[in-house]
Amino acid sequence: MTHKRTLVTCALPYANGPVHIGHLAGAYIPGDIYVRYLRMRGEDVVFICGSDEHGVPITIKARSRGVTPQDIVDQYHQVMKNAFTGLGINFDIYSRTTSRVHDRNASEFFRKLYDDDKFITKETEQYYDEEAKTFLADRYIVGTCPKCGNPHAYGDQCEKCGSTLSPEELIDPKSALSGSAPKKVKTKHWYLPLDQYEPWLRDWILEQHKEWKTNVYGQCKSWLDGGLQPRAVSRDLDWGVPVPVDGAEGKVLYVWFDAPIGYISNTQELLPQSWEKWWKDPETRLVHFIGKDNIVFHCIVFPSMLKAYGDYILPENVPANEFLNLEGDKISTSRNWAVRVHEYEEQFPGQEDVLRYVLTANAPETKDNDFTWKDFQQRNNSELVAVFGNFVNRAVVLTHKYFGGVVPENRKPEPIDAETLAAVIPCREALERFIETFHFREALKEAMNIARIGNKYISDMEPWKVAKTDPDRTASILYTCLQICADLAIAFEPFTPFSAERLRGILRVGIDAGTDHRAGEGEPTVNFYRPDEGKALHTVPSGSSVPGAEGTLVLDWSMLGASELLPSGHVLGESVLLFQKIEDAVVDAQIARLQAIKEKREAEEAARAAEEAAKKIEPQKPEVTFDQFGAMDIRTATVLAAERVPKTDKLLKLTIDTGLDTRTIVSGIAEYYRPEDMVGKQICILANLAPRVIRGIESRGMILMAKQGDGKMRFLTPQEAVVNGAQVN
Ligand code: 2FM
Ligand code: ZN
Repeated sequence: MTHKRTLVTCALPYANGPVHIGHLAGAYIPGDIYVRYLRMRGEDVVFICGSDEHGVPITIKARSRGVTPQDIVDQYHQVMKNAFTGLGINFDIYSRTTSRVHDRNASEFFRKLYDDDKFITKETEQYYDEEAKTFLADRYIVGTCPKCGNPHAYGDQCEKCGSTLSPEELIDPKSALSGSAPKKVKTKHWYLPLDQYEPWLRDWILEQHKEWKTNVYGQCKSWLDGGLQPRAVSRDLDWGVPVPVDGAEGKVLYVWFDAPIGYISNTQELLPQSWEKWWKDPETRLVHFIGKDNIVFHCIVFPSMLKAYGDYILPENVPANEFLNLEGDKISTSRNWAVRVHEYEEQFPGQEDVLRYVLTANAPETKDNDFTWKDFQQRNNSELVAVFGNFVNRAVVLTHKYFGGVVPENRKPEPIDAETLAAVIPCREALERFIETFHFREALKEAMNIARIGNKYISDMEPWKVAKTDPDRTASILYTCLQICADLAIAFEPFTPFSAERLRGILRVGIDAGTDHRAGEGEPTVNFYRPDEGKALHTVPSGSSVPGAEGTLVLDWSMLGASELLPSGHVLGESVLLFQKIEDAVVDAQIARLQAIKEKREAEEAARAAEEAAKKIEPQKPEVTFDQFGAMDIRTATVLAAERVPKTDKLLKLTIDTGLDTRTIVSGIAEYYRPEDMVGKQICILANLAPRVIRGIESRGMILMAKQGDGKMRFLTPQEAVVNGAQVN
């Protein structure tokens, strides 16, 4: 279908922790590449994001820190917003679901569905904490996992074995708020009857959107094949958008109901007059960038909500990515296994593009992928530095050396020159095709292929040698190289905008990067980037004659692959390095940081496991008769002397005053007690055990010990002084 404009959204990240590289690779970098590209192609695009500030995890974090949920979201909203800006991810608006506009809009959305009878209600029994006087979200119920025995499982998930749980499955459930055993109490909620939308969804997705990425299509198909159930859209919670219905006190909209409405609210906030054309005109194309854990909400739940409401357009595509792992392990902020974006920005200033590049080159587009610091270093050093940077640097430095920094005339062309420039065209075509079908890794490869073409050409032509004998031919070679540099300044703009900008500074050219809507209802802003004294971005009103830009050469996408982008006589700027080599020490420090985190975690897990094992109670032994028990002669006794049994680790030879006699007992307790600590201890022994010879020593009797689940032994010592030989029964 033809379209007039494109509305691009990126998943609204939860404001309960900073964004990490997994988020970037999943949704934000691909979204930004796509938007930059479309804008360069002259398309009208609105780019929407914001923080998702409701939901139970935020209330849990607030409680654990002793602050309010509002404090938590205020903190992280700012951290996330800055992190995105720092990485050049330029949303037209980055708002929040606690905004007034959203509160009103989400409420209105619910109310319309309610008034139109689109919901069903159900009364269910939910866990209720009578001490804390509140219903308990699944996360607020803890107990033992029925699958792996982890005693700290949550009512929705066991973090140890990864099982999805319901609170009913937990063994011995307790409220995380008060520790008391929760009671089941009846409560009423509103449900979106997804089952009713199933036939329509099947047709819309499975028939009409066969072009969706296979991971997305496949997940939708398996949900649909499994049969859809009504989904609750309200919760008993005191943090969120209140359910706007009489008798719904203490209930809020479920976070997954309000969050996607946040896309609409944020568009309304940005464009209060004209938002409707972005959401309701069939000539708008809507694209959601998300991670795979959000697929069902964006492909099934939200479209059903929009359909139920009526009027709204539906997503044309939902190019969800799979997950990015870090050094072989799942990224988890709670386990501190993450590279956080704001930390990267602090530690690698000026190297934002390296992260953008690596996360795109290695994007988890079709399957989960791994980020490693070695790969990060390798891609920087052998691709960005050795190919892209090296080519540009050679071309520009040699132009300064032989032609005073002026683009030379094409004095002595040879067929290879035109062939080389023409080879850029198929790269451009492939790049366009790949971006338009959401294959960003492949698209980036095509951009890099342009750099490879240039690098090979300059290496093969060896202008530094030719210059000794043939200045005219040298001029043509460098002329050709500089055209490819200009191609790169265009092609890399969507992927590595900071470096593309630096390159344009070197070439002293600007670029028309299209229009954006950061000015809201004001005129769309023309992004005209030009290379003035370190000032990267100049925005000028659309239609103006670009004041101050006179005489600046402006590139645009249509020039990519042209035979002349930089005319002879154009004066270049200073040569600066586009990329810096990353030394081993830098990535080794990052790896060491992660290694230390892993070791600490493993030590903590081992300690916890030992603690749990210690608590393990052995099952009761088979019944004995009173007579069998009475046959055992158990008595108090005192240790007179103790020594290790030579050549053993475990055995102590103890001399015991039993009150009846003085005798020797050999006992396997050397792991737990040192001989010198034993002397003088009063203990209990089984006195009438048949003697046994152990390591050549006759042992008469057995010392009674309490054995814990982890195998550790402790003496049974009478608490009050008694004579030796007192009978225990
Ligand atoms: O997974 C997440 O981080 C969610 N907060 C995404 C919400 S996307 C949209 F619906 F707002
Ligand atoms: Zn488990």
